Amino acid sequence: MRAGEALVAADENEHTALGAELLARAIDAAVRERGVARVALSGGTTPGATYRKLATMALPFDRIAWYWVDERAGAPDSPRSNFHAARADLGLDRPGAKSAGVFRMEAEDPDLSAAAARYEAHLRRAFGVASAVAFDAMTLGVGDDGHTASLFPGTGAAAIDDRLVAAIEAQPGRGLEARVTLTAPVLREARLVVVLARGDKKRGPLAAAWADGPDDEVPARVLRGAKGKVVWVLDRAASPSG
Ligand code: 6PG
Repeated sequence: MRAGEALVAADENEHTALGAELLARAIDAAVRERGVARVALSGGTTPGATYRKLATMALPFDRIAWYWVDERAGAPDSPRSNFHAARADLGLDRPGAKSAGVFRMEAEDPDLSAAAARYEAHLRRAFGVASAVAFDAMTLGVGDDGHTASLFPGTGAAAIDDRLVAAIEAQPGRGLEARVTLTAPVLREARLVVVLARGDKKRGPLAAAWADGPDDEVPARVLRGAKGKVVWVLDRAASPSG
């Protein structure tokens, strides 16, 4: 059973606009209600256009605190870095760019468990130790293997629930470098999750994510327990319902 609702865009421009509009509304609401919007960003090839669109919108950028959903092991200026990509797409690397903070995961640390623990400690301070770490908005993608964030299938990562941020070992067999990732409890706690997926390769993984079965088989299924709003922003090629 799918969590949330699916919006099917007619083309790439509409897909980009739908994602950006959902994020913008959540940001405006968070700033109105709490004075700050905390947004967690995924990487990959899909969300860049949405982030570039968001950067052009009339938003209270000085009240937006940017975080990451996951990060690939390596330097922050690596072309593989999710921080590097999203910071550029959002224009946060420009002189005078306004924000309430840009908080990357320090995946250049050879000890990714230590980097994960530092990020978790930062989240707990930022959100308040007594409060849940509930991002106001979060973008997620779905990998061709059904992963989301860096919770990969068959690794047990989808079941990690004793910490907010985890280090994920490299999987050479899959060509995957080591990662740092938010865990499923944090994904489920977000007030709004915008899942961005486009193209026919995503149709199968999305259908699997919406079907019953173990999270470890298709980690995007962890969204079934989402407490907030989940919106799957797709194009026709990716949509399991056409
Ligand atoms: C990453 C992302 C990852 C991504 C999916 C989908 O670090 O790669 O955080 O979870 O969202 O792999 O990626 P695409 O958008 O490229 O399909």
